[in-house]
Order: sequence, then C-alpha cells, then structure tokens
Amino acid sequence: MSGKLGRNDPCWCGSGRKYKKCHEAFDEKCARFRQEGFAVPAHSLIKTAAQVEKIKESCRINVAVLDYVAEHIRPGISTLEIDRWVHSETVRQGGIPAPLNYEGFPKSVCTSVNEVVCHGIPSEEEILREGDIVNVDVSTIYNGYYSDSSRMFCIGRVSPEREKLVKVVKECVEIGISRVKPWTPMGNMGHAVHQHALENGYTVVREIGGHGVGLEFHEDPWVSYTSAEGSGILMVPGLMFTIEPMVNMGSDEIYTDSEDGWTVRTEDGLPSAQWEVTVLVTDTGCEVICW
Ligand code: MF3
Ligand code: CO
Repeated sequence: MSGKLGRNDPCWCGSGRKYKKCHEAFDEKCARFRQEGFAVPAHSLIKTAAQVEKIKESCRINVAVLDYVAEHIRPGISTLEIDRWVHSETVRQGGIPAPLNYEGFPKSVCTSVNEVVCHGIPSEEEILREGDIVNVDVSTIYNGYYSDSSRMFCIGRVSPEREKLVKVVKECVEIGISRVKPWTPMGNMGHAVHQHALENGYTVVREIGGHGVGLEFHEDPWVSYTSAEGSGILMVPGLMFTIEPMVNMGSDEIYTDSEDGWTVRTEDGLPSAQWEVTVLVTDTGCEVICW
C-alpha cells in the first residue's frame, strides 16, 4: 500500500506526523490480516482526523433536522410537509439535502410509510394517519461532507405488532453497534443484526444494505445485514459506514415501483421498518457519529 513511504516521511493520512509514529503499525497489521485472507479496506476509505471533524459538522445538522421532524410530525400532515421541513431546516443551517436530485430523486428526504421499505417519495397526497409507521431518512451535505441517518416515527397510537417491529429494528441497530470492533470482519456485525430480527420472527432485506459515507453519499464498502459470521471486509479504525437494516414483518421479498422508479415496497404488503446510524470504527470499538 505505502511501499514507497519512508518511516520519517509524513503519514499518508495527512496528520502531519511521521509515518512511523502514525499509521505504520496500522499498515503492518493490515498486511498481516491480508495475508491471512481477510479483505482489508483501502486507504481511501480510512477517514483522517481532519475529515472526521468535518463529517461530524455535517452530522450535527443531520441530527438537528431529524430532531425537528421528531418535534413536529403528527397525524394529518402530508409527507410533503416533512420534505418542506427537511429542506428549510437543512438550508437554514447551511447544508444541502443530499437526496435532492441525487440520481434523479425529486425530493429532499425519503419518507417510507408502512409497507414501503425505503426510498419513498414525499407527496402532498400522502397524509399520515394514526396507526402509521414512517421512516424519515435524512442525508446532508455540509462543506462537501456527507452525513446519513434515519428514524422511525409512530403516528399516534399504532398496533402492538407495528410497535414491536419498530422497537426490534432499533434493537437490531443497537446490537449491530455493539458488534463493531476493530480488526474483526463486518460479517459479524451483519450476522448479529440478522439473528435478532430472525429471533423475533422477522426477515431482513438482502438486496439493499448500508454503505460507507463521509466524502461521498455512498462509498465502499457495501454493508449487508444478512451476512455470515467471519465474512466481509475487516472493520479497521477510521472506517466509516452506516448500519441501516430494513426489517420486514413478513417475507423478505421486495419490489421497486415501476411508475416512479424509486419506491421500494414489500411484496406481501406487510410493514417494514428501518433505523439508520453512521458509525466510525475506533481503536477500541466504535463511535456513533450520526443518529
Ligand atoms: N438515505 C438513503 C441511504 O441511506 C439513500 C437515499 S438515496 C435517495 O442510503 F436518492 F433516494 F435519496
Ligand atoms: Co444510508
């Protein structure tokens, strides 16, 4: 990786420190794991301390926007109203909503109600009713740095079945967070998430997963929540990615709306729920930087 870098040269991470005092031991450790057959993230996926600070500024806006949604969401509003809040709150704080015009996405936020798995498009016609469960997925660009997180909201009183689904998916994310440990394969995290969903009688969507984030909206690695223990890329300090399982009450089959090209729904029409956080792998575990 850094074969030509001298031990006294400045480290590749941009810290300004000598390589031997900074990432040399890290690179040696990566090389040993690579020899053992593990997939190890490229340097380009390892965030520098300066980048982490910038990305955290973006996260601060993302969290504040979701807090705003949490305070104002209620029965009777349309999902377009949520889009207006997200757009105005993001811009007010100096950010840009990352979904807007992203690969042609027409709005500033994804709102996914009940059987919508993800990528729901806010609409004037879609009114939130008591008993609905909705995922609001917010992503922000601030000074060129990206943040991404989503939460579930229960509209008024919802059925015990739906309430349980929402609660269990949150637990799935918390369990995933607890399994983010440096120098262990990412599959361990995904496996633990999957197990908790299965134990509660649910399924986890296989085709759509999480992703690296920070310098771009969607970076490597792709992150599965149905992975086998021991599989996948090694989680190393400085790697940043989302934990965002989509958990279905019924079957894991999904389809994309052919009319709008975005909205993903469950095949059986049963509800789906998702929470999303962004984590940074640290020397000792992980830091949740966006929620
Ligand atoms: N925020 C979503 C994610 O977690 C991505 C939405 S892309 C959009 O990856 F264009 F649909 F907004
Ligand atoms: Co995401």
